[in-house]
Amino acid sequence: MTDHKITIAIDGFSSTGKSTVAKQIAKELGYVYVDSGAMYRAITLYALRNSLITETSFDKESLIEKLSEIKLKFKFDENLGFAAIYLNDENVEDEIRQMKVSNFVSQVAAVPEVRVKLVQQQQLLGKEKAVVMDGRDIGTVVFPDAELKLFMTATAEERAKRRFKEMEEKGDKVKYDEVLKNVTERDHLDTTREDSPLIKADDAIEIDNSSLTLEEQFHTLLNLANEVIAKQK
Ligand code: DC
Repeated sequence: MTDHKITIAIDGFSSTGKSTVAKQIAKELGYVYVDSGAMYRAITLYALRNSLITETSFDKESLIEKLSEIKLKFKFDENLGFAAIYLNDENVEDEIRQMKVSNFVSQVAAVPEVRVKLVQQQQLLGKEKAVVMDGRDIGTVVFPDAELKLFMTATAEERAKRRFKEMEEKGDKVKYDEVLKNVTERDHLDTTREDSPLIKADDAIEIDNSSLTLEEQFHTLLNLANEVIAKQK
């Protein structure tokens, strides 16, 4: 690992492959990878399990009251090669990726009290630097001083295609149209919410990966990271 540790903030729309490249970069640099979306998803799972959010209702007050009872932790998983998320000591890494969680997460992520709690935890996780964190507000709110900020985009259709393929491979029974609808709805909710909407930080570098292979994307980002690290000397 290099001696010159930096913070790498990767923001962007859902299913832009942020987490894939963030994990690759973290591994290559010997940095810690933090999936901030997993934290919003775990709180959403808690709300669903406790019927605080349903198709027709969202009891925000009760969720806010219960926030102090929700403990989130990341633990490195040898098999996965990254840290899995634990909700009150239960590994929920798989369950939080299911469509039912995706369908409600933007509503939960729009609650300011939820954001305050998670931003504090994220800042603690990154206080030693040498971290790659992906999400929606990492370069704007969580680490406004990050040395490298990236903003990933790709067309909604391309993103839905990738997410659909991923879910199909896992055996999830979903329809492409349903995935595309979820992707566009979340884009809308994430960019129009009042608290910390998804926007590109002024000093972020935008990467449209619609037609980049994973390999090309990885090398583009790694070169950018190495350039910034070299400048810290
Ligand atoms: O990255 P993801 O799709 O797993 O994120 C799930 C949701 O969480 C996303 O729709 C918006 C929200 N989110 C957020 O508001 N802020 C973050 N830093 C990360 C995710």
